Amino acid sequence: MTSFSSAAASPGVPATPATGEPVLQLSGASLTFGARTLWSGLDLTVRAGEFIAVIGANGSGKTSLLKVILGQQQLSAGTVDFLGEPIRRGNRRIGYIPQQKLADDGVPLRARDLVGLGLSGHRFGLPLPSAARRHRVDELLAAVGATAYGNVAVSTLSGGEQQRLRVGQALAGDPRLLLCDEPLLSLDLNYQRAVSELIDQQRRARDLGVLFVTHDINPVLDMVDRVLYLAGGRFRIGTPDEVLRTEVLSELYGSPIDVIRTRGRVIVVGAPDSAHGHHDDVRGTNTGGAAS
Ligand SMILES: Nc1ncnc2c1ncn2[C@@H]1O[C@H](COP(=O)(O)OP(=O)(O)OP(=O)(O)O)[C@@H](O)[C@H]1O
Ligand SMILES: [Mg+2]
Repeated sequence: MTSFSSAAASPGVPATPATGEPVLQLSGASLTFGARTLWSGLDLTVRAGEFIAVIGANGSGKTSLLKVILGQQQLSAGTVDFLGEPIRRGNRRIGYIPQQKLADDGVPLRARDLVGLGLSGHRFGLPLPSAARRHRVDELLAAVGATAYGNVAVSTLSGGEQQRLRVGQALAGDPRLLLCDEPLLSLDLNYQRAVSELIDQQRRARDLGVLFVTHDINPVLDMVDRVLYLAGGRFRIGTPDEVLRTEVLSELYGSPIDVIRTRGRVIVVGAPDSAHGHHDDVRGTNTGGAAS
C-alpha cells in the first residue's frame, strides 16, 4: 500500500486502518496526453471498505483516472488491476457515478427506471425476470432512501434526490468498488451531507472501496481514510492529516501554500490552480499545470 508521508497518524484520522483485501491496484501508473503529464508514477492500492477522496483542480486528471479504472482510457505506463486481474471494460463489479448534469426536463423516466438501468443496462447481459427485477429495484430504492418517490418522474426530482438514485444505480451490480465523480456538484450543503453520508453508509454496509472525486474535501473530511491530491502533474497520497498540511502542499505545488484548519474545515490558501477556488487568494489559470 502506498502511503505518502512518514508522519504519524494524528487524532481525528478514522480509526479503521485499511486492512481489507485489495480491490484496486495501480502500479507505476502514468497518464500523458501529448506533452502533458496528468500524473505519473502513481502507486495506489484501494482496499475493501476504504474511502479515498481524489482532489485536484479542473483538468488535473481526476475523471481520467476513473476512466482508466473503467477500462475506457489506456495508461501511458504502469498497470491497473481490479480484484487481482487486469482491468476490463464493462466490469459490473465497479459501480460508477459519472460526472454529469442532472436529468433534463422532459426525460420520460421514473426514479425506479433510472435505478433499474443499472440492472439491465445493455452492458450487463441477460435481463432479470420481471418480478425479480422489480424486487431488486425496490431493494435498491430502499437502500438509498428513495422508496417514496420510486414512481415519480426523475426530471421533477431535486438534485439531491436524483443523486440518491444515481447512487442506487451504481450499486445495482453489487460492486466491490464505487467510483464517484463529483457526486456533490451543484448540491446545497444539506444534500451534500445527505449524499456523502449515503455513500459512506453504503461503503460500510457493503465493504466497498470508494474513490470519491471532489473539489472540496470538507463535506467528506470526517469520512475519508486517505486523500489523493493531484496538482501540476504530481500527486500526494496519505491521510488528510498527512497531506493537507502547509509544508506538504507547498512542496507539491512548489510555491507557498497555507493550509488553515478552522471550525472543522480545511481551507487551502494560495493554490495557483485554484483547486479550492473560492477559498484561494490567487485566481487560478486552470491549466492543470504541466509536468516537469
Ligand atoms: N482523450 C484525451 N485526449 C487528450 N486530452 C485529454 C483526453 N482526455 C482528457 N484529456 C485532457 O486531460 C485533462 C484532464 O482531464 P480530466 O477530465 O481528467 O480532468 P478533471 O480533473 O476531471 O477536471 P474537472 O475538475 O474539470 O472535471 C484535461 O485537460 C483534458 O482535456
Ligand atoms: Mg472531471
